[in-house]
Amino acid sequence: IYLFIYFFYRCCCFCICVFAVLLNKACLQVTVEGEVRGSAVLPCSFIDNHLKKEDITVYWRHNSSQNVYDIIEGKGSVERQDSAYKNRAETFPIEYMKGNFSLKLNSLQLNDSGKYVCYITKAHQNPSTQLFVKGM
Ligand SMILES: *[C@@H]1O[C@H](CO)[C@@H](O)[C@H](O)[C@H]1NC(C)=O
Ligand SMILES: *[C@@H]1O[C@H](CO)[C@@H](O)[C@H](O)[C@H]1NC(C)=O
Ligand SMILES: *[C@@H]1O[C@H](CO)[C@@H](O)[C@H](O)[C@H]1NC(C)=O
Repeated sequence: IYLFIYFFYRCCCFCICVFAVLLNKACLQVTVEGEVRGSAVLPCSFIDNHLKKEDITVYWRHNSSQNVYDIIEGKGSVERQDSAYKNRAETFPIEYMKGNFSLKLNSLQLNDSGKYVCYITKAHQNPSTQLFVKGM
C-alpha cells in the first residue's frame, strides 16, 4: 500500500509537472509579484499530519545564499538573518502546526526580486517562489 501511494504520488507530481510545463511553469515553483514599498507573501506548505514541534525546522533563503528567516524546532529565529531583511520578514507561528511556513516580506525593494527557497529539513522537497518586485 505504501508503494502504491508513493507511485500514485509520483505519477501525480509527474502529471502536474507536465501540465505546469505546458503552462510554462516549473513544478513546485510559484511566482509572486510585489511593488516597491509594498509587501508580499511567499507561500510554503508541507502536508504532514504528524508534525511535531521539534520536526519543524525550515530555512528561507534568497538567491540561494542570503539568510532571510529560520524556523528552528518550531520557533522563528532571526539570529543568523542577513541584515538586509531585518524587521522586514515574518512568518506565522500559529500556522506552523498546519505545515504552513509562508513568509511575509515587507517594505519591498527592487533587489528583493529573485528566487526564494523554503528548505524544509524533514521534507525531501524544497518549494521555491520567484518574486518579482515592480517599481511604482
Ligand atoms: C538592496 O539594496 C539596498 C540599497 O542599495 C541595500 O541596502 C539592501 O541591503 C539590498 N537588499 C538586499 C536584499 O541585498
Ligand atoms: C499560510 O498562512 C498565511 C498567513 O496567515 C496565509 O496568508 C496563507 O493563505 C496560508 N497558506 C495556506 C496554504 O494555508
Ligand atoms: C537576486 O536575483 C535577482 C534575479 O537574478 C536580482 O534581480 C536581485 O537583484 C538579486 N538580489 C540580491 C539581493 O542578490
